[in-house]
Amino acid sequence: MFKLAIIVGTDRPNSKSQLMAEYVKTLYAGLGVDAQIYSMAFFPLRHVVGGPYEENIPEVEEFIAPILASDALLFIIPEYNGSFPGILKMFIDYLPFPEAFQAKPIAYIGISAGAFGSLRAVEQFQMVANYRNALSYPERLFISRFSANFSIENGLTNATQKTLLESQTKGFVDFVQRM
Ligand SMILES: Cc1cc2nc3c(=O)[nH]c(=O)nc-3n(C[C@H](O)[C@H](O)[C@H](O)COP(=O)(O)O)c2cc1C
Repeated sequence: MFKLAIIVGTDRPNSKSQLMAEYVKTLYAGLGVDAQIYSMAFFPLRHVVGGPYEENIPEVEEFIAPILASDALLFIIPEYNGSFPGILKMFIDYLPFPEAFQAKPIAYIGISAGAFGSLRAVEQFQMVANYRNALSYPERLFISRFSANFSIENGLTNATQKTLLESQTKGFVDFVQRM
């Protein structure tokens, strides 16, 4: 089976995206996928202060290496001010160009406190991923009112969202294998 990097799109302490990533990881593990979680909480932000974009930064390379070595990516993207978190754009801006997302299968899950499940954030992020030639998996998932629809013990408690997640998970595994 393939290697999947589940990427938590925020560095916020006690992030709900992290909880979602841990839950989703169990679903992929159940299908035999080698899934690992990488969180923006560990992006070496202090090593990029001052904008050393052209330089080799060992801490950045160490952070991104296992992500680049993965066969597929799944981004968990919380909605911050109608968009995706700034740390996620910083991460993209320090990926090697142009090869990082070239023909890489990528799936997306948006989560939000509000009613739109991070649809805006995911679509804005997809514009960037598409620019970088990612192979975006079309079946996306948008989880609105996250706190009301998720528990640590049971994962997604909303039956419709749970069905959609299971469908995305199975469909993405099939998509990656076809690639
Ligand atoms: C800086 C910031 C901005 C936010 N902006 C929005 C927003 O525009 N729309 C929304 O529905 N929720 C917004 N939220 C709430 C988050 O989307 C929601 O709490 C989500 O579950 C957070 O994920 P996290 O716990 O991984 O940070 C915001 C939260 C933060 C911290």
